[in-house]
Amino acid sequence: MSPRPLLVVVLAAGQGTRMKSALPKVLHKIGGRSMLGHVIAAAQSLGADGLSVVVGPGMDKVRAEAVAQAPVAQVFVQEKQQGTADAVLAAREALAAHKGDVLVLYADTPLLPPETLQALRARLDAGAGIAVLGFEANDPAGYGRLLTDSDGWLTAIREEKDASEAERAVRLCNSGVMAFRLDDVLGVLTRIGNQNAKGEYYLTDAVEIARASGAKAAVVTCAEEDVLGVNSRDQLAVAEGIFQKRARLAAMREGVTMIAPETVWLSYDTRLGRDVTIQPNVFFGPGVSVDDEAEILANCHFERAHIGKGARVGPFSRLRPGADIGPDAHVGNFVELKNAQLGKGAKANHLSYLGDGSIGAGANIGAGTIFCNYDGFFKHRTEIGEGAFVGSNTSLVAPLKVGAGAYIGSGSVITKDVAADALALERSPQDERPGWAAKFRAMMAKRKAKV
Ligand code: UD1
Ligand code: CA
Repeated sequence: MSPRPLLVVVLAAGQGTRMKSALPKVLHKIGGRSMLGHVIAAAQSLGADGLSVVVGPGMDKVRAEAVAQAPVAQVFVQEKQQGTADAVLAAREALAAHKGDVLVLYADTPLLPPETLQALRARLDAGAGIAVLGFEANDPAGYGRLLTDSDGWLTAIREEKDASEAERAVRLCNSGVMAFRLDDVLGVLTRIGNQNAKGEYYLTDAVEIARASGAKAAVVTCAEEDVLGVNSRDQLAVAEGIFQKRARLAAMREGVTMIAPETVWLSYDTRLGRDVTIQPNVFFGPGVSVDDEAEILANCHFERAHIGKGARVGPFSRLRPGADIGPDAHVGNFVELKNAQLGKGAKANHLSYLGDGSIGAGANIGAGTIFCNYDGFFKHRTEIGEGAFVGSNTSLVAPLKVGAGAYIGSGSVITKDVAADALALERSPQDERPGWAAKFRAMMAKRKAKV
């Protein structure tokens, strides 16, 4: 870690009109987290001492997300979008109060690996006054070009609209990520003018200004996909794809088996233990953790849930927020749990809704069991004791307690608590009429022969 304090300034003032969205661009999600959240996490991974987020006027949702992701974040409003240097200067107050390095990130560039940012910072440690993250663009159109001298030092960044023919031929492009180790960053930024093709204050002009006072500017290169900018929904999907590819690879490298990784969708915070096996078509929403050796069969959907060691879940299971599956428990097809704990070794294998309750260790929940948890106004709990046996097609009307080891007869609608080891049955007596069916068939056959 670098000894100098670090202030990270995240630019998020752009509305992102190409998204065609009521939501500001940087709040669109990748891997279940906003793009702004990803960039803030990258800043935090560097151990930033200060974090400034620059938003546009009226972007209250962006402000709220910034503070939710990093309570220490200071949010500044850029009143008019007059260019990237003007945007950084919106955080003037934070810059003036800060002594140390400054890193500028764009909130719509969500895939930056922390190691890349470390490498950038290392160039400052090695004495550069400015370090810029560059990449060899497949198609450089629209990007600023990084102009270097014969020793590889950066001499200037030229925006495409201001570039000469020869400069445009350069393929080394500016990602927008810039780090500064200057005695007076604010002084350099305020000297930037807007005499250029767009009439904007370009942050990139800091290179030439700082060099004129003796600072050196360095380039660190990275893969183009690390600095992918998201401007449209199709780019959002591309970024999501890259995020997923990386997340799956990281999981497999830590000992997770995926039969068809390209069909498994992870969130930024998905935690998967060793020897977890995941069959095809499984979606992990945010807040899911799976302990070692659990087996996830095909076609499941999870969100804010926990799966214990050695448990087996799926195929076609849905775990909603607060579902907690105990070790070695089984959850089968078309079973939904919400805010409910399934104890160690308990089983709910078919067609059930288990909401707001707990199921003791070793209990068996028969097919078609429903926790009737909602009366239209309030939610109520159902508690099933250890080793209880709930017969198929049972409705358990909450609030309700079923004692340990109790049996519930199939087809019952249970509305009262059941004592431990009792049998509860709610079912009308069976009426049997010997020979009735044979007589009925004979009578009907005769009647049909007449018509
Ligand atoms: C910028 C760089 C260019 C680089 C490219 C990479 C400058 C002058 N140019 O160009 O060298 O290749 O990014 O994508 O810096 N923003 C504000 N307020 C403003 C202007 C921009 O907050 O007044 C924010 C935007 O929301 C965006 C980022 O800064 O997140 C970049 O702005 P944009 O206008 O897209 O810059 P480019 O012209 O693409
Ligand atoms: Ca851009």
